[in-house]
Amino acid sequence: MKKAIGRACALTLCLVGGAMVAPAMAADPIEALAATCNNCHGLNGVSVGASMPSIGGQSEAYLRMLMLEWKSGARYSATMGRLLKGYSDEQIAALAKYFAAKPWVPSEQRAPDQVVFNGRLVSDRCTTCHGERGGQPSDSATPRLNGQWAMYLEMELNKYRDDAVNLPHRKMRKNAQKLEQAEVYEVSNFMAVQKGQ
Ligand code: HEC
Ligand code: HEC
Repeated sequence: MKKAIGRACALTLCLVGGAMVAPAMAADPIEALAATCNNCHGLNGVSVGASMPSIGGQSEAYLRMLMLEWKSGARYSATMGRLLKGYSDEQIAALAKYFAAKPWVPSEQRAPDQVVFNGRLVSDRCTTCHGERGGQPSDSATPRLNGQWAMYLEMELNKYRDDAVNLPHRKMRKNAQKLEQAEVYEVSNFMAVQKGQ
């Protein structure tokens, strides 16, 4: 995890300059803004790195809420909070709309059968909110989990489990804290290998 964050921070240094000049040069300002995001999150928000979440196709309300919470400091982050300080609320809203309109593309991942089997049993505790196999969130404040990177899901669950990490959503924290450590790994891998929309 340390390694991943180090890499992301190194990238931030190179990208901040790009973000400043790009909008003036590109014909479509939103494409220019989104290009910065795509450097880390992948083209159209489809991530190719296991520690970087896909964001294309998550709901607009969820994306906007997270970004505003990071900008205000209400939500912990290693990278995004610092980055978003340079964006207006209007730019954040436009980016949320832009990425929400992209298709959700579950990534290609594999996990051992036994891990997926165990994870499926654990996932029964998640379906009321995240939907069957994590692919049908019950409301626009809830993210898709199907085909998200296993390593990222595991990292996020571990953050919700740690009271020292400031993540405001109490119900999700409670749910994460009820899991055994092995179940965190299993359910993350189960969600990650789901291909359905
Ligand atoms: C330097 C790399 C980097 C850039 C550039 C970047 N992000 Fe991120 N993003 C991250 C990392 C790392 C995380 C995981 C949370 C954290 O540690 O901040 C993340 C998490 C997110 C999440 C949370 C996804 C989820 O479901 O948990 C959203 C939404 C997001 N970024 C949107 C954006 C947008 C929009 C932009 C462009 C303005 C952007 N990011 C630019 C690295 C980056
Ligand atoms: C009561 C509804 C509810 C239940 C039950 C629930 N979640 Fe969540 N989950 C949410 C909401 C809402 C969020 C967004 C929380 C936030 O804003 O921080 C979330 C966020 C997450 C995230 C972060 C994803 C990302 O992209 O950053 C993960 C991982 C997750 N849930 C996994 C699970 C797992 C695994 C279970 C079952 C063990 C579960 N959740 C049960 C509502 C729920």
